[in-house]
Amino acid sequence: MKFIDAFSSNTGYVAHKWSHYLFIYDELLLPYIKNNKPVNLLEIGVQNGGSLQIWKKYLPAGSQIYGVDINEKCKTLNFPENVHFLCGDATDKKFLDREFKDIKFDVILDDGSHINKDVIKTFNTLFVNKLNDGGVYIVEDMHTSYWKGFGGGFRKRDTMIEFFKRLVDALTVPHIKKRPLFFSKKQYYALKEMNKYIKRISFYDSVCAIEKFGKVKYIDNFSLISGDKAEICDDVFLAPNISNPDTAQKTEQIRQAYENS
Ligand SMILES: C[S@@+](CC[C@H](N)C(=O)[O-])C[C@H]1O[C@@H](n2cnc3c(N)ncnc32)[C@H](O)[C@@H]1O
Repeated sequence: MKFIDAFSSNTGYVAHKWSHYLFIYDELLLPYIKNNKPVNLLEIGVQNGGSLQIWKKYLPAGSQIYGVDINEKCKTLNFPENVHFLCGDATDKKFLDREFKDIKFDVILDDGSHINKDVIKTFNTLFVNKLNDGGVYIVEDMHTSYWKGFGGGFRKRDTMIEFFKRLVDALTVPHIKKRPLFFSKKQYYALKEMNKYIKRISFYDSVCAIEKFGKVKYIDNFSLISGDKAEICDDVFLAPNISNPDTAQKTEQIRQAYENS
């Protein structure tokens, strides 16, 4: 089933999404849908409850769908089996830890307050600790990064868009040979730590998706060669050869991080 079909056939509780998101979900959640693999999904921001109903219809049978909303009125909504509502503040780490003590998610979707500092705080609480390996964290309505009322402003440093743009450095940080002086040790090591987890960051109009490796990556990527003739440039022999038994263990670690993730 395509998300647009689940969305357009929704009856009862209202869901509210931007048109292009309907296609982004298909793209990001394809591995789960294709393999018919049940998913644990958390949506921050329930409002009228329609999107939780749609996730239930769209995701493979047996999926568990959790919704968090700060609005007490949402407690009156009735949801079908495997859809769970929790009333609370998604920026409150104690609330999240208490409610989701033994639960981790394959998909986390932040469609909550859209206030820049809230989104960053919730991401910092949930991404490493509550998103399963191979999972995806999706932030919606990031246009509020540019809206003053949400703590936004064009190229303003503490907005979510600037936060996630800076997180892109985590993908390639091992290649920075020396810590830049303007960058504190704490910031530098935090970025290096994130390098172990983040496989890919995708930006769309108003959406950012941060995907986790299938397995935490314990070694840095490395350049390597195969073959034994280098007639144009023999500098390449400085790199380990994948066919050499000495390289096998390192190659296997990289394979585990990337394959099937
Ligand atoms: C945009 S609506 C959610 C729409 C819904 N996901 C949908 O697709 O139809 C945002 C919701 O986030 C809730 N919210 C705002 N701040 C929150 C917070 N700190 N924690 C949890 N929910 C919050 C609001 O009460 C509101 O119902």
